[in-house]
Amino acid sequence: MRVLVTGAAGSIGRVLTPGLVDRGHEVVGLDRVPAPDGNDGPWHLVDAADPDAVAAVFAEERLDAVVHLAGYPGEGSLPDSLTSHVVTTAALLDAMVEHDVRRLVYASSNHAVGRTPRPTC
Ligand SMILES: NC(=O)c1ccc[n+]([C@@H]2O[C@H](COP(=O)([O-])OP(=O)(O)OC[C@H]3O[C@@H](n4cnc5c(N)ncnc54)[C@H](O)[C@@H]3O)[C@@H](O)[C@H]2O)c1
Repeated sequence: MRVLVTGAAGSIGRVLTPGLVDRGHEVVGLDRVPAPDGNDGPWHLVDAADPDAVAAVFAEERLDAVVHLAGYPGEGSLPDSLTSHVVTTAALLDAMVEHDVRRLVYASSNHAVGRTPRPTC
């Protein structure tokens, strides 16, 4: 499959990308920072919260699936969390519907729903 990995420069994306390639998949990276050293695949320097920019990626690439990792993994303000997790996901889902891409793996975050209590120790 040809898989769009958003947040491909992040800690999970940098492990997932070579893992998918090793299993015979083609990976298209998307992140708002440049590709890490050693990633020679197609790369889109894009803010996933920008629906027009996301739509342009789908118009350019033939995709079979999306792994959505772009997002801030920690605690943030509600507006920042909504942009990071909900707005990005909406932009991707709209583009997926438009281009009939039917497979999505979504990491999200428990912080996306706000301030999950953590034990202090
Ligand atoms: N690491 C964990 O234990 C864990 C657990 C549950 C869920 N998650 C979720 O998995 C995802 C990835 O986690 P991670 O640990 O790799 O995080 P990370 O911070 O290492 O990587 C996130 C990547 O997403 C990119 N990014 C963020 N916002 C973006 C945007 N609007 N447009 C384009 N790129 C953007 C960043 O530049 C970064 O490269 C996050 O959504 C996180 O909430 C992580």
